[in-house]
Amino acid sequence: MVKICCIGAGYVGGPTMAVIALKCPSIEVAVVDISVSRITAWNSDQLPIYEPGLEDVVKQCRGKNLFFSTDVEKHVSEADIIFVSVNTPTKTRGLGAGKAADLTYWESAARMIADVAKSDKIVVEKSTVPVKTAEAIERILTHNSKGIKYQILSNPEFLAEGTAIEDLFSPDRVLIGGRETPDGQKAIQALKSVYAHWVPEERIICTNLWSAELSKLAANAFLAQRISSVNAMSALCEATGADVAQVAHAVGKDTRIGPKFLNASVGFGGSCFQKDILNLVYICECNGLTEVANYWKQVIKVNDYQKNRFVNRVVSSMFNTVAGKKIAILGFAFKKDTGDTRETPAIDVCTGLLGDKARLSIYDPQVTEDQIKRDLSMNKFDWDHPVHLQPASPLSVKELSVVWDAYEAAKDAHGLCILTEWEEFKTLDYQKLFDNMQKPAFVFDGRNIVDVKKLREIGFIVYSIGKPLDPWLKDMPAVA
Ligand code: NAD
Ligand code: UDX
Repeated sequence: MVKICCIGAGYVGGPTMAVIALKCPSIEVAVVDISVSRITAWNSDQLPIYEPGLEDVVKQCRGKNLFFSTDVEKHVSEADIIFVSVNTPTKTRGLGAGKAADLTYWESAARMIADVAKSDKIVVEKSTVPVKTAEAIERILTHNSKGIKYQILSNPEFLAEGTAIEDLFSPDRVLIGGRETPDGQKAIQALKSVYAHWVPEERIICTNLWSAELSKLAANAFLAQRISSVNAMSALCEATGADVAQVAHAVGKDTRIGPKFLNASVGFGGSCFQKDILNLVYICECNGLTEVANYWKQVIKVNDYQKNRFVNRVVSSMFNTVAGKKIAILGFAFKKDTGDTRETPAIDVCTGLLGDKARLSIYDPQVTEDQIKRDLSMNKFDWDHPVHLQPASPLSVKELSVVWDAYEAAKDAHGLCILTEWEEFKTLDYQKLFDNMQKPAFVFDGRNIVDVKKLREIGFIVYSIGKPLDPWLKDMPAVA
């Protein structure tokens, strides 16, 4: 029986290994982590992450060929293939701070593998890492090898949160990069045979190591760039009377462009896009490619601009002040169907509104009060792009309440901001919301999910990203 061990039981390690265990009953999969609370949760009925379909998969395999454990060293030493899926956040201090990937966790995982390994291993980079990381890892392992042979593969993960299980069941592609030596090719084949249990052969792409590592950063940069492009257009739509949804539809009909990932929004969030683009920018700068670095930096700048623009629109619409006004925030997660709040645009929008002295009442079906309060009192690192001023922490109850119902959040509010596209926000009783709000009552839709015409008929003043402006908003100060 082949044994797989995955170091890191997070958003990637957990779901990815659960699916491998489900699709490959002949393989034993152990997911290990230094976080006791995470492993305890993986072994309980309350999984540490919310992901549609995940619970089903875990329940089918857990205790059979899928195990979650804190005994990192034991499982690493027994495994034939070791996936490393630890976090690789942006460095906040020292050389490359604000851009470069922090490989502390990766390096400590590699050193631990070198310490405990007693047999040959295939080590798979599952985390997103800078191009050429495999070379550094190889050095750490071979310098401490005690005669053990290692093959390093790059196998970046392309799943998106909220659709992780679907994405893992039928991926657009699986990418495996390895050394172009006979041993390297053998290792590629070994990993390929794991995925071949359920992924059609033509979808498994094999490349050299550096192409695989760079393709992951490139894919995220391209995806984020599409969103910044459509968001940039949304500002122009508001200025001209065009409708960004119509423009995106017309543009996306060109088969060379395609219709996906063209939804204008309050801005992209999530743990990957910003971090990976900053990482790409840093790599370009290190290679003396200033123009290329500046090109990609702009994707993040437009994203910051979009979040700022949204806050400014809220404030300017409400007579240029939100001081003391209650504003309901619907949705805090960075997208629907996840409880993840890493880099969520809601943090910047809420911080901006709090900076203007608004009182916020926040509702998200999957994010806890503790998480929201932690996110809003954290000092945001200055990434070399504009950020809102920090509110004085800790936030008082007067400034911020977290509630478990959209109607409660909107009661007596002057305005309502939709920041996550949860399905339930599409079917709210907007008449009921309106009846219980202060007048004039505003809706600021950061996800373009409400029926603007219907809401205007109810009496709301509605702002929807990139849509023709409400006559009320046209008369308000211009938003840059
Ligand atoms: P995460 O923070 O949810 O999980 C990482 C886990 O690794 C944590 O539980 C942490 O305790 C554990 N860990 C860190 N160092 C360890 C060590 N030395 N030994 C054992 N455990 C250790 O992160 P994530 O969202 O799963 O992301 C992991 C990697 O995958 C990152 O590089 C990320 O860029 C990449 N990625 C993430 C996504 C996503 O949607 N979240 C998608 C594709 C790729
Ligand atoms: C992303 C990549 O899609 C995935 O391939 C990679 O492995 C990890 O990073 P994720 O961040 O989980 O996945 O979610 P994604 O669906 O890409 O959304 C990222 C952000 O962009 C969200 O805030 C989302 O709301 C926003 N978005 C997405 C838009 O604003 N408009 C769109 O059209 C699509």
